[in-house]
Amino acid sequence: MENQRLLVVGAGQMGAGIAQTAATQGFEVWLTDNAPEQVQKALSGMQARLSRAVETGKLTADQQRDILSRIHAVPTAQSVSSIDLCIEAIVEAEAVKVGVFRELGEHFGPDTILASNTSSISISRIARDTRYPERVIGMHFMNPVPVMRLVEVVEGALTKSEVTQHVMAAAEAMGKVPVLVQDYPGFVSNRILMPMINEAIFALQEGVASREAIDTVMKLGMNHPMGPLTLADFIGLDTCLSIMEVLYQGFSDSKYRPAPLLRKMVDAGLLGRKSGQGFYHYDK
Ligand code: NAI
Repeated sequence: MENQRLLVVGAGQMGAGIAQTAATQGFEVWLTDNAPEQVQKALSGMQARLSRAVETGKLTADQQRDILSRIHAVPTAQSVSSIDLCIEAIVEAEAVKVGVFRELGEHFGPDTILASNTSSISISRIARDTRYPERVIGMHFMNPVPVMRLVEVVEGALTKSEVTQHVMAAAEAMGKVPVLVQDYPGFVSNRILMPMINEAIFALQEGVASREAIDTVMKLGMNHPMGPLTLADFIGLDTCLSIMEVLYQGFSDSKYRPAPLLRKMVDAGLLGRKSGQGFYHYDK
C-alpha cells in the first residue's frame, strides 16, 4: 500500500473526509468536484480541522503541513493519470453516478480500481456501463470519515476478488476496519439505519412527540450517541431521501416508503446541516 495514488471525485462532506483521512495515512491524493468552490471549501475545512488537531496536541505543525501537501486540487478527473484507486463521492443519484463511472472507465485503464462511496445504489448497476466492470466496487465510508472506523466494502456481481482484496487492504491502510457485504439495496448499514430515521420522521410528522423528545428517547433510551433527527440533519436530508427511494424501489415493499415530511423538506431545500436548516437550525 506504499505510494498509493488516490483520486477522490466529489469534494462534499464525504469526499473531503476521505481525502483528509487518506492523506493523513500517507496516500497521495487528488481531489476534484464539478463545482470548483466545493474543492476550495473542502480544503479550508481540512485546514481548520487539522489546525484544531495541532492546537490540541494530536498533530505537529510539520505533520499538518505534510498532510496538506499530499492533497492536490484538480479541475477534472481527466487531469490526472496513473491512479491506483479512484473513490467517487458525488451526489446520491444513480443516473449521475452511472455517467461519471462511464467517463472514469474511459479515462483510466485496467490498472485503476473504481470505487463508489454510495450509501445504497447498486454497485453492479453503477459498474454496468464502465469499460472494466470487474474493477468496480463499493467503498462505503461513514460520516465523519476521519472519526468513524467502518468501511462497508460492497462487491458487485462482477467484482473480481483481487479487487476486493486490494480495497480491503487500502481501507486498512487508511486506518479503517473493512467489512465485506454483498450488493443489496442499502447494503447492511443503511438497510437497518435509514428505516429507523424514516420512522422517526413519520413520528414527528404525526405529532407523536417533538423533535427534541424523539431524539432524547433514542439517545437516553437506546444509548444512541445522536438522536435520529439530528443524525438525519448530519447525513443530509437529500441523501436520506435518495436512500429511502432506493430501498423502496429495490425491495418493492411499502415499509420503505419515504416519509412525506422528508420529501417536503428536501423540496424546500431544507437539507440539514449542510444547508443551515433541517430538523434543527445551524449557523453556516
Ligand atoms: P455532498 O452533497 O456533501 O457532496 C456531493 C458533492 O458532489 C458536491 O460537492 C457536488 O458538487 C459534487 N458533485 C455532484 N455531481 C458531480 C459530478 N458529476 N462530478 C463531480 N462532482 C460532483 O454529499 P455527501 O454527503 O458528501 O455524499 C456523497 C456520497 O457519499 C453520496 O453517494 C452519499 O450517499 C454517500 N455517503 C454519504 C454519507 C453522509 O452521511 N452524508 C455517509 C456515507 C456515504
